[in-house]
This record gives sequence, C-alpha cells and structure tokens, in this order.
Amino acid sequence: MTTTMDLEAVDFGLQELPGDSLHAVLRAHRERGPVQPTRFLGLPAFVITSHKALEEAFLDEHAFPGHRMYQASFEPAIGKSFISDPDPASHLLFRKLATPAFRSRAVASYEQSGLAALANELVDRIEGRLAGGDEIDLVAEFSARFPYLVISRLLGLPRDREDEFHGWALALLTYRDDPERGRRARQSLSDFLAPIVEERRRRPQNDVISELLQAEVDGRRLDDEEVFSHVRLLFPTGGETTHGSLGNLLSALFLNEGAWERIVREPGRIPAAVAEGLRYDTPIAVLPRLSRSEHATFRGVDVPADSWVLFAIAGANRDPEAVRDPDRFDIDRAQPPNLVFGRGPKSCPGLHLARRNMAVALEVLTRRLPELELVDREAALPRRTVLRTPAALRVRRTR
Ligand code: HEM
Repeated sequence: MTTTMDLEAVDFGLQELPGDSLHAVLRAHRERGPVQPTRFLGLPAFVITSHKALEEAFLDEHAFPGHRMYQASFEPAIGKSFISDPDPASHLLFRKLATPAFRSRAVASYEQSGLAALANELVDRIEGRLAGGDEIDLVAEFSARFPYLVISRLLGLPRDREDEFHGWALALLTYRDDPERGRRARQSLSDFLAPIVEERRRRPQNDVISELLQAEVDGRRLDDEEVFSHVRLLFPTGGETTHGSLGNLLSALFLNEGAWERIVREPGRIPAAVAEGLRYDTPIAVLPRLSRSEHATFRGVDVPADSWVLFAIAGANRDPEAVRDPDRFDIDRAQPPNLVFGRGPKSCPGLHLARRNMAVALEVLTRRLPELELVDREAALPRRTVLRTPAALRVRRTR
C-alpha cells in the first residue's frame, strides 16, 4: 500500500509508474475520495479515479471543456481539427466531415483483408530470426509499427515511402519538446501529401484521402489544409493509442501465467482478450483535461480556473464498485461498461478500428508465433500515464 508521503509526492506527468505502481497510486487516491488533489508536470492538479465520478466528469463540458487541452498541446503541431474546436456545432460538423477516416467503405474493405495481410508482412520479417534463436522486441518490430502502417495504407500512401511517413509522424509528436523538429516534420508532411491530395481530387481511389475529399455535410467540404490537419490528427489519436493498447495487451498475456497459451489454444477468445486488455491496462491511463478559464465546482470540490484535471480512466477501470476483482486479468469476465474510449461528445470515433487492429494483430501473432516466451519481465511492464505502454517486449521461441 502506498504511504501518505508517497502519494503526495506522485506527479502523474513526470513519473513512469510502471506496472502495478500506477494502479496502487490510483487505488490509494480512490480510497480517499473520487476527486483528489495531486500533481501533473510539476503543477497542482486534481485526479478523478472512481467510475461514477469520471463518467459525470466526461459529460460535464461546462467545468471541463473537452477542447482546451488539445488546443494547448495538439493544435500547434497538427493544426486546426475538430479535436481542438471550441464551438460544439463546428466540432460536430468537422467530426462528421472526417468520418471517412474512422468508418467508410475504404476502412471496411481494408479491415476485411488488409489488416491481416499487413500483420503477416510484419511477422514475415521476424519469423526467421526467431526460428534461428534470436530475441525479438515485439514493441519495436510490431506494436509500434503496425498502427502507423495501418494509417498509411488506409490513406493510400505510396508503400516505398512508408518509413519516411512514419518518421515524420513520430517527429510531429515531439513538438512540445522540440518545436523546430516538429515544425520541419509538419512541413515535410504537407509537401508529401500535397501532390497526393491533388492527384486524388482528379482521380479518386478506394482510400481514405479520396473519401475525405468527397465527404460533404450541409454543403461543406474539407479544403486541402483541413485534409492535411485531419490526416495529422490520426497520428496521436490513432497511432500512439493503438501502439499502446497492443503493447499492453501483449504484456498482460505474457505476464499472466498461461494467458498467452490459452489464446493460442482458443482463438475464439481473442475479442474477450482485447476487451479485457483494454480494461486491465488502458493506453490513455490518465487523460489530462484543462478546466474552464473561470473557477468551477465539481462534486463539491473547488477547481481553480485553468487547472489540470486528470481523468484517470485506468482508475475507473479498476474501481471495485464497477468491476468485481478488478486487479485480476480475466478474459472470462463479463465486461462491465467502461470509459476506455471516453464518453459524451468527444468519445472515440476510432474505437471500432482500434478493436479490429488489436484483434487481427493478435490472431496473426498467436497463429504464426505460438511458442513465444518473455525474456525481460521488467521492460514488459506498461509504463507512463498519458500514453502507457511497455518499453520493450523482448521474446524468444520456447522450442
Ligand atoms: C485502443 C486505442 C484507442 C483508445 C484507447 C482511444 C481512446 C480515446 C479516448 C479516451 C478519447 C476521448 C478523449 C477525450 O474525451 O478528450 C478518444 C477520442 C478520439 N479518438 Fe480514440 N482511442 C483509440 C484509438 C483511436 C483510433 C484508431 C482513432 C482513429 C482512427 C482514434 C481517433 C480519435 C479521435 C479523432 C478522438 C477525438 C474525438 C473528438 O474530439 O470528438 N482513436 N479516443
């Protein structure tokens, strides 16, 4: 159990809180009450840890306007998109215009066959090395790559430039720490996308860029710059989250005795394993929100203007009032409603694709590489809070 002193010293933005340490901290906070003072990036903050309070907080757009954090942290890097739009009507309009990126003919047909083909391609690159006795890091070789390749194939980008595209996407995400590098990546991406967008305007294909260009809501279409921003939006929201969720799922399957072998034997349990993986260690473990620019009150707690309020989705997922035996990884449990994909007007439009990505990746990995064992348990613990995932998943073949 975390001591009082420990709890006060925890900073959710500065500490990695690997494995159970995050859950122990969230449990200790929850035992004190659903809304507690804490620290984030060296600043005073609040953390919400109970399922009920967090559901209310997601729906309380007055106290915690959903766009503010994204305006501060995403907009300089990715440009204007609906995620940081302060006006509810235009948020909804642009969310609808961008729908092809989440659900469309191109996404559906890619989910049918493209996802498995891509997962197989990645396994082709490591299968021989594993058979030869090498250790492989499944984060570097699979979970960090797969979601970006999915995005790039959905968009219909040239295959011979996928590595460059991945590099710019990652550089863009370093914007806060290295703005110059982020700006260069943003420019390179625009230069790369511009001729592709122009080409798709003239000759539409079965891909997400063509569908984004054709989407029309209330007589409005996306212009080129808006298409670029909505493509860039997919890196943090669709790339890093899925990278995290795949890593956490594999980590839980390897670290919990017999779980990997069970999925190998019973592939029909894969959707249940995906759901339990998302509950047990979710990639957006702590979602920071900036409270409104004036003082607010939430559940009797005074929240000063412009406060960081941490939506601890990982805490809600393990709230014993909402989930029985919450610290157990149990793929047979009946899943209670959860907040993994948020709630309310900003709930995740990519949840369907995210779950399919995870399920297909797991189907291919368990079928093609059934005899795997973890070499480094410490590195396999999920770590960090806002985007949580293991540093490495080093595995080798058992036979
Ligand atoms: C396991 C993977 C994923 C998780 C855990 C996840 C989780 C979330 C959560 C919690 C939110 C709500 C954020 C808030 O209230 O501020 C959200 C929003 C969002 N997600 Fe996901 N997501 C995942 C995958 C994806 C994918 C694959 C895409 C795109 C293809 C995507 C696109 C988005 C977008 C654009 C938003 C913003 C919605 C809005 O502002 O209206 N997500 N996601």
